[in-house]
Amino acid sequence: MVVGSGGREHALAWKIRESPRVEEVYAAPGNGGTKAVAHNLPISAHDISSLLTAAQEYKVDLTVVGPEGPLVLGMVNAFREKGRSIFGPTREGTLIESSKAFCKMLLSKYAIPQARGTIFTDFTDAARFIQETKPPLVIKADGLAGGKGVMIASSSDEALIYVSGLMQEGKLGDAGKKVIIEECLEGREVSLLAFSDGHDILPMVPACDYKRAYNQDQGPNTGGMGSYSPPRFFDDAEAHRATEDILRPVVRAMNREGREFRGVLYAGLMVTSDGPKVLEFNARFGDPETQVILPRLKNDLIDIMLATVQGRLDNVTPEWDSDACVGVVMASGGYPQSYTPGLPITGLNRLDEDIMVFQGGTVEREGRLLTNGGRVLTVVGRGKDVAEARERVYSNVNRLQFEGCRYRQDIGLMS
Ligand code: AMP
Ligand code: GLY
Repeated sequence: MVVGSGGREHALAWKIRESPRVEEVYAAPGNGGTKAVAHNLPISAHDISSLLTAAQEYKVDLTVVGPEGPLVLGMVNAFREKGRSIFGPTREGTLIESSKAFCKMLLSKYAIPQARGTIFTDFTDAARFIQETKPPLVIKADGLAGGKGVMIASSSDEALIYVSGLMQEGKLGDAGKKVIIEECLEGREVSLLAFSDGHDILPMVPACDYKRAYNQDQGPNTGGMGSYSPPRFFDDAEAHRATEDILRPVVRAMNREGREFRGVLYAGLMVTSDGPKVLEFNARFGDPETQVILPRLKNDLIDIMLATVQGRLDNVTPEWDSDACVGVVMASGGYPQSYTPGLPITGLNRLDEDIMVFQGGTVEREGRLLTNGGRVLTVVGRGKDVAEARERVYSNVNRLQFEGCRYRQDIGLMS
């Protein structure tokens, strides 16, 4: 049973469906796309007791959690208490994503490379620090903010206004009561994800995600407008270095802190002239990174997931296709602000055979596929390199249509 309803969950359900060991896949709640590979169950990803009942009723052998919300609510704790097999970290492990202050302290304590920064719980202290420090400064709300909790302030005034909004006006509620102020790192960003069974880790191929809404990284932050894998600027040697200097020490550190981490550990890294440094950690697969990573995995995903849950990742060797993948997100007009759902999507039957489409904000009603969210589709092309995968995907995206649809034209361009 795959929990969630985005493009990431469609990709997970699709890859899990490929396993010869799998008889049946459920998606809760799923979307218009998961219907083709799974039985959609109309249960919210946050309704843990109903998900538990469904897992018992349908005799689900493995539940896989997509988004962070249910992890923070303790879904893995609840399933484990009832003896049900579930892929993902406990609430305690998820703290590495749900509290940026915890993450920062953990990295400091274990000397893992990150941006220099300070945690503030008092506005006056934060304001004084801002006045004494040369901008640019990166300001982060401690708690989960759906991608809206980070701002790069190019002036002290801008920094002060943002911090005041968080700490004095409570703009993000409890999530903004604590604030982290960091140096602004320069370099290129990469997402390095790894399966972790609490002791051993299996890194995945690296991927890059595009957070800004418009071409050339303009416009507001979004959940992610596209992705590609592999990035040329982050080769095997760099990935190995980040695995040994960052991912492995973090898994060990979490253990020492009594927060054993089983699931997917996602490191958002800045590759600086001084080596890779941590920007953030997530406790789950990334969206839209998953849509370009899983098509490259040759192994049975269920084998890896079961080994992760059962603490025997040392027995698994992942194999990755040398092909590159480029994923373009087609978003609703107006996203990431307001947009109109319920618009018909056409053109899925006009795509070339090698093109994959992972659906996110879609729903099927009376045989018609309609938009039902901001990030509607991730269209994925593959090729011998990123340039070829990019050419494949962009020669197909314009065949897909819904009113007001929008996508970036520069995904994979500067790989
Ligand atoms: P986060 O949610 O912490 O990953 O931050 C969101 C985005 O803000 C990242 O993807 C980066 O683009 C940017 N960012 C975060 N921290 C820093 C930093 N210390 N220096 C430069 N950019 C950063
Ligand atoms: N792609 C960013 C995230 O999944 O958080």
